[in-house]
Amino acid sequence: MSSNLAVIVLAAGKGKRMKSALPKVLHPLLGEPQVNYVIKAVSALKPKLLLVVVGKKFDELREVLPEGVKLVIQPQPLGTGNAVSCCLPELVDFSGEVMVVNGDTPLIRSETLISLFDTHLKQGNEATLLTAFPPDSTGYGRIIRKGGQVVKIVEEKDALPEEKKISEVNTGFYIFRKRALFNYLNRIKKTNQAGEYYLTDLIGLLVADGFKVGALVAEDWRETANVNSRRDLIEAQKIIQERINFFWLDNGVTIVNPDLTYIGPEVKLARDVTILPLSFLKGKTRVGEGSVIGPSVELKDCQIGKRVCISYSWGEDAVIKDEAQVGPFARLRGGTFIGKKARVGTFVEIKKSKIGKESKVPHLSYLGDATVGDKVNIGAGTITCNFDGKEKHPTFIEDEAFVGSDTMLIAPIKIGKGSITGAGSVLTRDVPAGSLAIERSEQKIIKDWAKRRKRDSKKGGD
Ligand code: UD1
Ligand code: CA
Repeated sequence: MSSNLAVIVLAAGKGKRMKSALPKVLHPLLGEPQVNYVIKAVSALKPKLLLVVVGKKFDELREVLPEGVKLVIQPQPLGTGNAVSCCLPELVDFSGEVMVVNGDTPLIRSETLISLFDTHLKQGNEATLLTAFPPDSTGYGRIIRKGGQVVKIVEEKDALPEEKKISEVNTGFYIFRKRALFNYLNRIKKTNQAGEYYLTDLIGLLVADGFKVGALVAEDWRETANVNSRRDLIEAQKIIQERINFFWLDNGVTIVNPDLTYIGPEVKLARDVTILPLSFLKGKTRVGEGSVIGPSVELKDCQIGKRVCISYSWGEDAVIKDEAQVGPFARLRGGTFIGKKARVGTFVEIKKSKIGKESKVPHLSYLGDATVGDKVNIGAGTITCNFDGKEKHPTFIEDEAFVGSDTMLIAPIKIGKGSITGAGSVLTRDVPAGSLAIERSEQKIIKDWAKRRKRDSKKGGD
């Protein structure tokens, strides 16, 4: 569907009810800011222009919004009507319909917005609203109808007791003809309980002047639930979590406990993946066929191959190739690459390093800025000492090298192909291929010392 449509997403409100330093629309749902769900839903309508209204202090918002949106600044949060007014300069050269959506309604589906747009065009309306019948209408603007026709919207704060009883509410999704915004937004007054310019007043003004205003009732009120508080956020998260997990269950993925599994909206899973409880898959993580993730795994922006097993571990921006095994208790930081059939075991931290095919880092190691070849064995307690207090230095460990337990590799350093390092060595120089590097003081043997001590302590009798 491509259309003469501009979309305005309102995201500049203070979000007082969140009691947070973070702007309300940035509060995350499964790792994604809630406003991004709304932006994704409206993007399906392929608008010619996608404007997001932000407050002037919201630098954080600029960083996380998807590409292709244009930011419009609302200098003061003077109300939703004022927020739309701030967009008018951007719409001067546009001709078509303008959809306005609240940024705090993350559950909306594109299909519903497409129906709203179809209704608007078919009915030839000046404005069309999406309304709903939630079980509790508290907090929403109420839809006032006369003879079945919408005549105005009354905000909760300004509603008369009998108006408060109305169960049809304004969902915060509207389509206007461009001229309706240009001709009527400047007529909105802030003479209401909140002292704000309400976008919702536009409806009453249009109807009073004889324009046709229509409404589409949402089939499922839950899609239009708005998130004003942290409680609302958790309710919304439950619904999104269920939608995403059920989608994957229907598409060949086993999720052992969907209530305890958190999969972000941008994650992609192949078939026969198994996700064990308490796993969090975030960002653009991809998991290949037959892999087993969990229990207790958190992955952000990771690329996981086929038949990989990861348990009790954390990874960010890491690539793990087919049949590798990770964990329990590994931490894979940015720029980690784990080769095919490699093994990274318990209490291992890896940063910006490549581990070659079939290599093993089974326990208690730190590898940073390292390039490890194929079939390398890294003994327990090995550390790449990559930081001299000022700069980071690289370590190279070539194919089939055997690094003995507790080796300290003072970088920059190279451990040649097939070489061996003695356990407990502190190595400061390159090790040529095929050699042994050992750095320890010689072992002393004092014969019978232990036996004598035992005998002496018996005699002493204290
Ligand atoms: C709004 C509607 C209400 C509707 C409800 C549905 C108005 C006056 N009321 O109420 O009828 O039932 O949504 O969810 O519109 N915003 C700005 N700039 C501002 C104020 C708000 O960009 O100056 C943004 C907010 O970030 C938010 C959206 O507009 O994303 C809605 O604002 P909010 O304060 O949450 O409105 P509600 O009280 O929920
Ligand atoms: Ca709201």
